[in-house]
Amino acid sequence: MDILYSATKPTGKLTLGNYLGAIKNWKEMQENYNSIFAVADLHALTINMDSEELRENIYTQFATFLAAGLDPEKSIIYCQSHVKEHAELAWIMNCCTYFGEASRMTQFKDHKAKDKVVSVGLFAYPMLMAGDILLYNTNVVPVGVDQMQHVEICRDVAIRFNSRYGETFVIPRGIVPKVGAKIMGLQNPTKKMAKSEDNENNVIYLEDDDDTIRKKFKRAVTDSLNEIKYGDDRPGVSNLLVIYSSINKISIEEAEKHFKGSNYGTLKSETAESVIREIGPIRDKIKELKGNKEYIEKMMKIGADKARKIARETLDKVYKKVGLVLQANSN
Ligand code: TYM
Repeated sequence: MDILYSATKPTGKLTLGNYLGAIKNWKEMQENYNSIFAVADLHALTINMDSEELRENIYTQFATFLAAGLDPEKSIIYCQSHVKEHAELAWIMNCCTYFGEASRMTQFKDHKAKDKVVSVGLFAYPMLMAGDILLYNTNVVPVGVDQMQHVEICRDVAIRFNSRYGETFVIPRGIVPKVGAKIMGLQNPTKKMAKSEDNENNVIYLEDDDDTIRKKFKRAVTDSLNEIKYGDDRPGVSNLLVIYSSINKISIEEAEKHFKGSNYGTLKSETAESVIREIGPIRDKIKELKGNKEYIEKMMKIGADKARKIARETLDKVYKKVGLVLQANSN
């Protein structure tokens, strides 16, 4: 079976975008791949975060993975910082990546334009991510559209490493879902729905209660064209159609047919109810799991122990290839 790797970073509360673009598909794919899922907590340090908030987010994201149906019996589920090999391979990746190619990453450029002062860690973020993927001999990396550029740079660096030092890394392939690869904001449907958002109404969080979800959809921005059709000239309505189709596992065309002759109010309320049906039970389970941190920590340890074994083997191979001397009794 091919190996699948993916992760989320705990910089904020997970959104419907994270769910439809990533986690929902992971759940389905774990049946057909040897899957590894991480809470990428080291990535969260690339921005300045409150420590307590970060710690809470790490527990919540791990709980969300379990609540959404990722199965620790079938898949490896762990926290990135529990496997120190991530930080080690990231250094090697830094040394194999050109400054110019890292400078072209659009997420970094966007952050830099917005925040002005950014850390070296933020610049090195794609190399840490490349290490995550390569440590596990990954074949496929399911992500939303916004992460594809990072998977591409990972491939480039892995290919370069292999040609410089000989076959070492499996070259991974990024894949995006057919529908739902880029869920947009409800208030500003020309911008992706993001964890880091000032306007709460723009985002559905996986922990939102039913009434909040209904309210947010009710307020969603549409247009004055009054026709439920997908198209570039109608980003709000298109986004609602994408959400509806993705949750109900139908094509956009089928969703258009379903809503033919309906008004925008119906589109909003039916989409809201679909979302509630899907994420309501997950939200309730997250709450329950969060009350049992001991259990979460136990699951974290089980996952990290499994992940570490694979990661160490790869890292030892890499260290040898680049000319480092392995410590006696290194494990
Ligand atoms: P993060 O936490 O930003 O996002 C997690 C996943 O959710 C997807 N996503 C979306 N999909 C559709 N619509 C949206 N509005 C939306 N917003 C986010 C992302 O594409 C991603 O798949 N760097 C990664 C975490 C990471 C990782 C990795 C991923 C660390 N190491 C190795 C894959 C492989 C990140 O910040 O994801």
